[in-house]
Amino acid sequence: MLHVLDHPLAAHVITHLRDKTTKPATFRTLCYQISLLLAVEATRTLATEPKAIETPLEPMTGRVLAHEPLVVVPILRAGLGMVQPFLDIFPDVSVGYIGLERDHQTAIARSYYCKLPVVTNRRVVLVDPMLATGGSAVKAIDVVRDAGGADITLVSIVSSPEGVAEVQSHYPKLPIFTAALDRGLNAKKYIMPGLGDFGDRLYGT
Ligand code: PRP
Ligand code: URA
Repeated sequence: MLHVLDHPLAAHVITHLRDKTTKPATFRTLCYQISLLLAVEATRTLATEPKAIETPLEPMTGRVLAHEPLVVVPILRAGLGMVQPFLDIFPDVSVGYIGLERDHQTAIARSYYCKLPVVTNRRVVLVDPMLATGGSAVKAIDVVRDAGGADITLVSIVSSPEGVAEVQSHYPKLPIFTAALDRGLNAKKYIMPGLGDFGDRLYGT
């Protein structure tokens, strides 16, 4: 299931992210902001449980997040830019890492690192700003599933229809949250109009 973020602030932030004159420091701030909006949207279905408290005026039963630890897994390197909002808003989040790098000629992702916490019986949110061919995302989902993860959500900032179709062909029920669904891929498998190489713009490389 594909969810495209529909919010004026998201549109504003995405436009500045796309702008080629945006410098890395501003790019990182914008990445934080859009990732925060996506983090809120992508966790809308997290379970809550009742909690009895007393306000200064009377007792009441409120609701708090159920004891369902969240796992956020960035796909290195660019996914690192999306982690901080999850750390800031979820008290008990744990973080795993999957390192994948696209070959510049073939656009096929090669795995170079993996360190995951326990993922069984946990909501796992995979974060990667660009969903282009979908090769990296499918590989990362495979890794989490092989480690025992069953409840997986994919969060990207910019997606292509090809990437969405690739993920859906392997995992038809997996929720995908994105801030923009672009036109398609160019010959070099970059998203158009896109925003260029996210990792390079995030880290000034
Ligand atoms: C980018 C991006 C995704 C991947 C998407 O990473 O961050 O991980 O490409 O492309 P795909 O959908 O075609 O697989 P890249 O491989 O450039 O590595 P980086 O994050 O280290 O820059
Ligand atoms: N990776 C990026 O950083 N940008 C693209 O457009 C495609 C893959």
